[in-house]
Amino acid sequence: MKRFTDLAEVGREQVLELLALARRLEAQPEPRALAGKVLGLLFMNPSLRTLASFQAGMARLGGASFVITPGQGTWQLETREGVVMNGAAAEHIREGLPTLASYCDVMGIRAFAEGKDLATDLAETRFNAMAALVQKPLINLESAMNHPCQALADWKSIDELALPQRARLVLSWVPHPRALPLAVPAATVHMAAMRGMDVVVLRPEGFALPAPVMDAARSAAAASGGSVQETADRAAALAGAHIVYAKEWGSTTHYGDKAADQRLRGAHQDWCLRNVSFARSAADCHLMHCLPVRRNCAIADEVLDGPRSIVLRQAYNRMPAQMAVLHRLLS
Ligand code: CP
Repeated sequence: MKRFTDLAEVGREQVLELLALARRLEAQPEPRALAGKVLGLLFMNPSLRTLASFQAGMARLGGASFVITPGQGTWQLETREGVVMNGAAAEHIREGLPTLASYCDVMGIRAFAEGKDLATDLAETRFNAMAALVQKPLINLESAMNHPCQALADWKSIDELALPQRARLVLSWVPHPRALPLAVPAATVHMAAMRGMDVVVLRPEGFALPAPVMDAARSAAAASGGSVQETADRAAALAGAHIVYAKEWGSTTHYGDKAADQRLRGAHQDWCLRNVSFARSAADCHLMHCLPVRRNCAIADEVLDGPRSIVLRQAYNRMPAQMAVLHRLLS
């Protein structure tokens, strides 16, 4: 494995090996496995979990890490091609990224969607332009349409629940004041399909996941024995659900149109997940969310603080899952 940028590209067999390695590293720590190795982390967008869990995981394997957040103590980085650099950015990624890569053994990059043009973001234009400049093992820390580290950790968290193989996972849209990217919903639906689950994407009209995302998930489900459906019917979707994975994302009908997106999402504030939402789900239905989450906007306190929630376990599992990725890429 040279890169960890997409769970689909890694493939089911290697994902299962990574999960086994994550469990092994939890049971039998290897504090010298990556001694002398350096992880470089470039965050074009903010983070709490990804940043801290990668640094902690690398340290627990005996390695070191550095973090670059352009504009916060380091030069701002220009990503556009062919521009006259007479603005705030002092350095272009064409020089900055190969320089950073030359200091480390593995590099992680976070570069969110631009959120202007859906086709551009679906093509991973921004992340791919940066990835092409790194001739070292590379990890996707969240791109426009993918968050493989979150998906791997979530797979581990679901394994720990010991549910039936074809458990029902409902990926439910929940409100947020702004249009958030599609990376986590796209990665989640694909991960659950690859895992062989019965996946239901529950969202209001105007928030359907893009056809290429759904088509890829359906292909993965066909290969693993699972299924993928999409609906706006909350009662039908939640009936018998073993997991409700809550996530906020922007309107795909009005992608890049902030005002139209705001009008549409404003009409769906009642999609905030409350205990009553679980009335039709299995008695032990679990709540998942990648975090960060806006309390009482996306999910009510009563659910986040209740026994259904495994959101903190998901956050913890980022670390052992990513330690397995680092171990496989470097040792
Ligand atoms: N879930 C996740 O990636 O969290 P951060 O944005 O805090 O890294």
